[in-house]
Amino acid sequence: MSEFLLEVKGLKMYYPVTAGLLRRHVADIKAVDGVDFQLRPGEVLGIVGESGCGKSTLGRAALRLAEPTGGEIFFEGADLRAFNKQQLRSMRKEAQFVFQDPYASLNPRKTIGENIGEALLYHGLVSDREKQSQIVAEILMRVGLTPDAMQRYPHQFSGGQQQRICIGRAIALRPKLIVCDEAVSALDVSVQAQILNLLMELQKTLGLSYLFMSHDLSIIRHLTDRVLVLYLGKVMETATTEELFSNPKHPYTQALLSAIPRSHPHEKKERMVLKGEIPSAMNPPSGCPFRTRCPFAQPICAEPPPHKKVFDRGTGRDDHEYYCILD
Ligand SMILES: Nc1ncnc2c1ncn2[C@@H]1O[C@H](COP(=O)(O)OP(=O)(O)OP(=O)(O)O)[C@@H](O)[C@H]1O
Ligand SMILES: [Mg+2]
Repeated sequence: MSEFLLEVKGLKMYYPVTAGLLRRHVADIKAVDGVDFQLRPGEVLGIVGESGCGKSTLGRAALRLAEPTGGEIFFEGADLRAFNKQQLRSMRKEAQFVFQDPYASLNPRKTIGENIGEALLYHGLVSDREKQSQIVAEILMRVGLTPDAMQRYPHQFSGGQQQRICIGRAIALRPKLIVCDEAVSALDVSVQAQILNLLMELQKTLGLSYLFMSHDLSIIRHLTDRVLVLYLGKVMETATTEELFSNPKHPYTQALLSAIPRSHPHEKKERMVLKGEIPSAMNPPSGCPFRTRCPFAQPICAEPPPHKKVFDRGTGRDDHEYYCILD
């Protein structure tokens, strides 16, 4: 048995770009381009980066919701890319998704009871309606709603309540992993905190692992054990959350962190503003992808991409890695 719940090696997800009447393949959008990561059971891994850097694509490709272009994926040590439809279907209940827009994730014509309960029947976790509604009632209470929500429809709930329903539907199948893709980004700040508390409570009591995509670094800092920083589909840096926030090594990570509002007016922090637009993933810069916006870039940064560097403070642990030629 693998020590990892999910292990991804060299994962690639390219979207073909076609042109002309014959839809000739002219280029690729390299949304995810050779990403490695490991997720341990019970761990929360944050995935950060600006809009378009490939966070959602990474989550979808890592669980074959979209078919990757290349790379290896191991789920509990099993080769996920070799799974047939049947195997994938039974694996689906182990790994659930919670997306940004809860209303779009629910079927508006079905009651909450049906929205949550159908997956239970589909995956054979219950065999009759009575047992189904009993479990749905328990789940609704677990996510802070009352069982009478079962008879109502998604539009009768607020955004925060709808997200509670989506989280309930995700945990109903007793998964090991939940991919939370900007799960609180669309909610009011006060509601955000409630949903984050719910996610943290469920993670602890159910021993869940999360892949948590967000562009909000305060949330990432609060919720995750480790962080993966993505830029143009490539990993720039990965470390434990505490280490990453106290000792960011990559200029991109430093720039992202310096954009977080200061928690105290007297707190001194050099501001390094990220200038310019993120380049197109169809035509990324040679060498280090960040070099066109990096304040420290040198001509050497345009040469072949930087190798992985390990920063271990002499501990011998290789849990802080980054990709930058400069020191
Ligand atoms: N189905 C698709 N077809 C073509 N290109 C796509 C598709 N989905 C995503 N992309 C492109 O892949 C890149 C990564 O997109 P992705 O949605 O994964 O980024 P993201 O980090 O999740 O962004 P956001 O923070 O806005 O959610 C972008 O350049 C995007 O335009
Ligand atoms: Mg996204």
